[in-house]
Amino acid sequence: MLILGLESSCDETAAALVTGDRRVLAHRLAGQEAAHRPYGGVVPEIAARAHVEALEPLIHAAFADAGVTLADVDAVAATAGPGLIGGVMVGLVTGKALAHAAGKPLVAVNHLEGHALSPRLADPDLDLPYLLLLVSGGHCQLLLVEGVGAYRRLGTTIDDAAGEAFDKTAKILGLGFPGGPAVERAAADGDATAVPLPRPLKGSAEPHFSFAGLKAAVARAAPDHAAADVAASFQQAVVDCLIDRTRRALRIAAGATALVVAGGVAANGAVRGALKGLADEHGLRFVAPPLWLCTDNAAMIAWAGAERFAAGLTDPLDVAARPRWPLDPHAEKVRGAGVKA
Ligand code: KG4
Ligand code: ZN
Repeated sequence: MLILGLESSCDETAAALVTGDRRVLAHRLAGQEAAHRPYGGVVPEIAARAHVEALEPLIHAAFADAGVTLADVDAVAATAGPGLIGGVMVGLVTGKALAHAAGKPLVAVNHLEGHALSPRLADPDLDLPYLLLLVSGGHCQLLLVEGVGAYRRLGTTIDDAAGEAFDKTAKILGLGFPGGPAVERAAADGDATAVPLPRPLKGSAEPHFSFAGLKAAVARAAPDHAAADVAASFQQAVVDCLIDRTRRALRIAAGATALVVAGGVAANGAVRGALKGLADEHGLRFVAPPLWLCTDNAAMIAWAGAERFAAGLTDPLDVAARPRWPLDPHAEKVRGAGVKA
């Protein structure tokens, strides 16, 4: 089985070719950092235009890398949401056009499902169900992954995502964009105990997250401390919150065989290390995808497409893009979480 995957929901344009037996034949990526850097964040209109320019050459390059053509593909998988609607439309419409032209089935993939299943692309031994901490620029959720298309949300952020807090901290400290890797680098030279910062929701009963107060505390503390100390103290506060909330979720994650982390913030060494310790404490396997698979890419979309296609789940060519698209349709809205999918 060979799947073409397309991703364009935020600020990465990507195309990949992945087989049903987990071979990544090609994965191409074009970032837009330079275009968004002057604004210190992703500008939706600029992103959509950049996706239009980048996607077609990336698809050609991916086919050339893999030495296959569209005729060899079994299905076309494209991100259909959640994300910035202009960008999502670019990838989804391209996927529809290719599927239609080649007479192949279309798989409309939830970007979050791409992150959620990406550890299964990296690790053939990862069994279901597993507890997933999905931490990215737009999301911070604890999910029990029970099967393809079967996700139970145990916790979510009531305000900002963890990645958003990293990006904001980088902006406050003048470390540039994107912020996560810059904060991690700065933190390496800092003292994590130098700046007292809050641990929002730590110890609370339900495994939800909150980072808005931490962000505000960083802004207040920054003028009086060295940037490296603020970065290190901030990173430690995030790690403490993620660990406390994940520990809480493990109590209700019935039958979980592994603790798994995915999404851009999963690229953070301190986060990975602390989660590994938590998994060890509980006698669970710890699985984290390789760094390139943590941040947005199309291989994870192709893989989620492969899993859905294998389960007989394809979509009609008139399937709609969904800027909001929760993975667990039964999850209740959490107070204060109105702006997050
Ligand atoms: O999954 P992703 O590529 O895009 C979304 O779907 O949001 O995640 C991007 C987020 C950004 O907020 C970025 O700052 C953060 O992941 N990130 C990191 C690191 N690398 C990326 N955060 C902390 N440490 C890192 N090394
Ligand atoms: Zn993502």
